[in-house]
Amino acid sequence: MDYTTLGRTGLAVSSMGLGCGGPSRIGQTTGNTEVESVAIIRRALGSGINVIDTAEGYGTEEIIGKAIKDFDRSSLVLSTKKTASERITPRQLEESLEQSLRRLGTEYLDIYYLHGVLPRDYDYLVSEIGPSLQEMRRQGKIRFIGITEMFNDDPQHTMLHRALQDDIWDVMMVGFNMLNQSANAGLFTATTEKNIGIVVMFAVRMAFSRPDRLRQIIEDLIEKKQVDPQDINLGDPLSFLVHDGGAINLTDAAYRFCRYEPGTQVILSGTGNPAHLDENIASFSRPPLPSDDLIKLKSIFQNVDSVTGQ
Ligand SMILES: NC(=O)c1ccc[n+]([C@@H]2O[C@H](COP(=O)([O-])OP(=O)(O)OC[C@H]3O[C@@H](n4cnc5c(N)ncnc54)[C@H](OP(=O)(O)O)[C@@H]3O)[C@@H](O)[C@H]2O)c1
Repeated sequence: MDYTTLGRTGLAVSSMGLGCGGPSRIGQTTGNTEVESVAIIRRALGSGINVIDTAEGYGTEEIIGKAIKDFDRSSLVLSTKKTASERITPRQLEESLEQSLRRLGTEYLDIYYLHGVLPRDYDYLVSEIGPSLQEMRRQGKIRFIGITEMFNDDPQHTMLHRALQDDIWDVMMVGFNMLNQSANAGLFTATTEKNIGIVVMFAVRMAFSRPDRLRQIIEDLIEKKQVDPQDINLGDPLSFLVHDGGAINLTDAAYRFCRYEPGTQVILSGTGNPAHLDENIASFSRPPLPSDDLIKLKSIFQNVDSVTGQ
């Protein structure tokens, strides 16, 4: 596993982070027992991953608490999130933080995010909740302040572009993948200039783990005229990526694509399957995709900003 610095936080972070939400919730939605989910987290930590991401809404904080209790806390970069889509109050935020800390069995969080912020809620949240987040930091309960977008409703990153105007955010969690590369049209340049840490979500999601879903999404993009059908083999749209010297399979391509995108630091990977975890760790040790494949990917999907890969 290799490590980098997460923007202005200065945190040393593994390029792969374990996402404990998403479709799998470390296996809690796919049939894992709690013991099996604990084992996934420990396996990730044992492989050198030090970034563990969750949210109060995922139902995985307590499992993480059990998994990390024998690890040196200072070696971990632990993040959780407060659901922020409704008009939460500072009091609700404070109560949520205390509950998250208790469930995770820790005295502090490395990053505390406002979770899934919609453009229409942003101004309220920054003025009413922003000061509480800063107070929590002064108290030492959180080290850095983050914000995540509601990618499914805001695939063009409207909220994060707005958030760039304020100096409060140390870290942004952004939807980015081979299909929707729109964050590289300005957002990553601006976050790099401001030294804001970037954590990527949605690298694989459904699009690159379920072939039928990928075909469906591409058909939809052709209908919206965001993809030219002449550029793509509809039967197996991204097969050109898998070859000797290229990607092993589509999930491998998806993680490697995000991992080497300039301006990104941590790519989250979510799984409840130990074999997938090992495969994904191996993907992070491989080099960038061949430049001809990258050029083709960028040219096919350059106009896409309407899908998330869900
Ligand atoms: N707005 C937000 O703040 C927000 C929204 C969404 C997600 N997130 C965060 O981002 C994290 C990452 O998102 P994600 O969990 O959707 O991760 P992801 O890595 O993009 O996709 C996970 C999906 O891919 C499958 N998968 C993973 N590795 C695979 C492999 N090698 N082969 C085949 N299938 C594979 C998983 O199923 P298996 O379990 O079968 O492997 C799961 O269905 C989340 O866990 C969460 O922490 C944040």
